[in-house]
Amino acid sequence: MKVLIYGSGAREHALAWKINQSSLLEKLYLCKPNDGFADLGEVIEATGFEQLASISKEKNIDLLVAGPEEPLVNGIVDEFRKVGIPAIGPAKDWAMLEGSKAFAKEFMQRNNIPTASYEVISDEKDLYNVLEKFNVPIVLKADGLAAGKGVHIANTRPDAEQTLIEFLKGRFNKASKRVVVEEFLEGPELSLITLWDGNTLLPFIPARDYKKLEEGNKGPNTGGMGSYCPVSLELNEYEELELYVKKLETALKNEKADFVGVIYSGLIMTKEGLKVLEYNMRFGDPETQPLLMHLDSDLLEVFKMAVNKELDKVELKWKPGQTFCVVAAAQGYPVSPKKGGEIKNIDQIISDHGVTVFFAGVKKQDGKLTADGGRVLSVCQTGVYAQKYIYDALQKLNFCDKIYRKDIGEVSLSKEVCKKNEGCCDSCGF
Ligand code: AMP
Ligand code: GLY
Repeated sequence: MKVLIYGSGAREHALAWKINQSSLLEKLYLCKPNDGFADLGEVIEATGFEQLASISKEKNIDLLVAGPEEPLVNGIVDEFRKVGIPAIGPAKDWAMLEGSKAFAKEFMQRNNIPTASYEVISDEKDLYNVLEKFNVPIVLKADGLAAGKGVHIANTRPDAEQTLIEFLKGRFNKASKRVVVEEFLEGPELSLITLWDGNTLLPFIPARDYKKLEEGNKGPNTGGMGSYCPVSLELNEYEELELYVKKLETALKNEKADFVGVIYSGLIMTKEGLKVLEYNMRFGDPETQPLLMHLDSDLLEVFKMAVNKELDKVELKWKPGQTFCVVAAAQGYPVSPKKGGEIKNIDQIISDHGVTVFFAGVKKQDGKLTADGGRVLSVCQTGVYAQKYIYDALQKLNFCDKIYRKDIGEVSLSKEVCKKNEGCCDSCGF
């Protein structure tokens, strides 16, 4: 198969890395890759989706894998459909499950999918009537895409009022002219990636993303500072997750959701049970990095079966243990990240520590790879000693006063059982 991957982050690097291992792959094409993985395929440049689709047709490309949300919401898949190229990702209509929080809430409500109670507001004059219905903390969400920054949790009523006014006045331009106001939920969060072929919803193993900048889940929200999979769950939690997948599958069938692609459910395990925080219509970043490293099946074969509406025949295979991913960002991220430092000895660090690195904000300058943005790279590894290898590698990395969280993942061995004292867990200290 000839495959085109669209997008420039570590998620797309991981997709390219995994698809490159497929026995079905004839040729990989990339659109907008960063300089850290552009050499994994032939790069296509185009001025818009229409031109990209027409170039792809000329090159006999068989499948588009669209990475980020903006191109989906802006219609990349619609253009590829016009020239008859299948895609992993919905057209504009179903991309709205991510493109509009109000649309997603209505979908959940219609289908009895548990979620926080909510109101939609677009006129400042309704502010008091709406806020009156909620206790603090109150969650405010810009309806449209806001690059992951559109959620505000207000701890006081004056903060909720002031922020809601700012949103409605256009803090996120058109995206926040309509706002979803919702009940605050508490509990551990899970990212559940599923693949949908129009008939069957196929779940991946549950993953966890660390959205806050600082250890202990403190500091500002970011695009994600690390992740791991699978998340250890109790039996009843697995059962709840299974029931949720069935419910979502039924909802998609009932609504005749006519696309092949990813549905990422942002879930929260509350005391009253599992609830949905949000839908994304793409792979998560950074969850995709450990998920694809942990996947033992041929991803392209799975995509091909999805396009042929055969996901009911797929049984995904996973490696044993867990896979971890720690994101290194540039000093100043997420507000004003430093740019330009060389990422020295990266190949040596990768081979010395046996880790896999997926690049995001990087650029080649005079043949040298340099940090060029907020989240610079993801360091990943599978297995019992994975966290130690990752953190050893990160200590050796040297660019732009890098920052990273030191608490990503579960402690694999408890204090009671660890007698090795090999720096393998919290009790040894890595
Ligand atoms: P979202 O983009 O909707 O996933 O929101 C981003 C993050 O905000 C989530 O991962 C949660 O940590 C937090 N969040 C969103 N909605 C709620 C809610 N109703 N209650 C508590 N936290 C929330
Ligand atoms: N990891 C969160 C996201 O991809 O939106």
